[in-house]
Amino acid sequence: MKIVTVVGARPQFIKASAVSRAIKAISGVEEIIVHTGQHFDKNMSDVFFDEMDIPKPKYNLEINSLSHGAMTGRMLEEIEKLLVAEKPDFVMVYGDTNSTLAGALAAKKMHIKVAHVEAGLRSFNMRMPEEINRILTDRISDLLFCPTQTAVDNLKQEGYDNFQCDIVRTGDVMYDAALFYGEKAELQSKILEELDVSGGDYILATIHRQENTDDLNNLSQIVRALNTVNRSKRVIVPLHPRTKKILEHQSVPFEFTVIEPVGYVDMVQLTAYCFMVMTDSGGLQKEAYFFGKNCVTMREQTEWTELVTNGYNITTGASEQKIIAGFEDMAIRKNDFSTQLYGDGKASFQIINSMQNFLSGN
Ligand code: UD1
Ligand code: UDP
Repeated sequence: MKIVTVVGARPQFIKASAVSRAIKAISGVEEIIVHTGQHFDKNMSDVFFDEMDIPKPKYNLEINSLSHGAMTGRMLEEIEKLLVAEKPDFVMVYGDTNSTLAGALAAKKMHIKVAHVEAGLRSFNMRMPEEINRILTDRISDLLFCPTQTAVDNLKQEGYDNFQCDIVRTGDVMYDAALFYGEKAELQSKILEELDVSGGDYILATIHRQENTDDLNNLSQIVRALNTVNRSKRVIVPLHPRTKKILEHQSVPFEFTVIEPVGYVDMVQLTAYCFMVMTDSGGLQKEAYFFGKNCVTMREQTEWTELVTNGYNITTGASEQKIIAGFEDMAIRKNDFSTQLYGDGKASFQIINSMQNFLSGN
């Protein structure tokens, strides 16, 4: 079985690392990595290839920093060219970025089977670029790998039982990755010493969603809320380059600790030892849960609704008051994190086995 994996953005490197590890452990599978170039800074891209088990990309498309249409269009064109040469059995895509949609669309038009990891997630907010990308990708995928029952239910509600595709609930490959790198982080990471923090005395926060960064009112409210929280507990923010550029250009005053984006081993360590997570990231909401931390999600909706219904997470939008109230609420909430909402840590193996069965007609 030959798979072309299309990745381009930070969360995809992490997810692909888990699946690549499974591929290496199973015989008869060849994987070729295409890096679209969507993320390109050393600490947004190279660091993950250096420290994780992702094969070196055979193709580096170097497409980034463009409008959505231009970025997706140029990726589509370049991916199509390399698929003509590679003739894989599958194109594998992850999540909901522009790289995801470009990879899936290029493959489907060439009648190459598309496998979508993290299928079926919905925020029900069509203003999010990610919602558009994931709906379109799901619709043209042949194999839809769902991390949760909620994701399966979303697809069923949209009539996917009537479409020609297979839906498989696998658990979440990010859980596979978090388990593996959690152990490594314990042995290797020096980030807590470097930042002079210890267990429970800081909050880990990230901000990068377009709806928060590109709306100055939203961004200012989030920054003011984090400034307030920082006065009671130190807030550490590994800052995404998108947010960094805007904070600098708009001169938004912040009081919390900003650091460069960190590699996954350090990120896992920061998550494992923080007091709480405050974020608008998708992946980090789940990592908070994996490491037994409550989470405040600075968005109106989350795709990971089971975290909210089970009390691990609260959505506040970008309202300064709601974020501060959310922090105060979550600071005293005692949760039992032994529920296994995201599978058993072997989702990646199930994915590759399902793909082999699909090809052999089983
Ligand atoms: C993208 C995804 C988002 C995902 C995020 C993960 C889309 C539509 N969005 O958002 O779903 O959550 O990745 O982090 O695909 N930049 C740099 N250096 C980098 C990467 C980005 O300077 O290494 C700058 C770009 O030049 C651009 C901005 O950050 O100005 C946004 O980058 P882009 O890849 O378009 O979107 P993200 O916000 O990273
Ligand atoms: N992450 C990281 N270093 C950082 C910030 C985030 O390794 O400095 C990880 C984070 O733990 C998560 C992944 O990057 O697993 C994806 O997060 P991001 O917020 O970029 O994307 P999203 O999940 O929102 O699409």
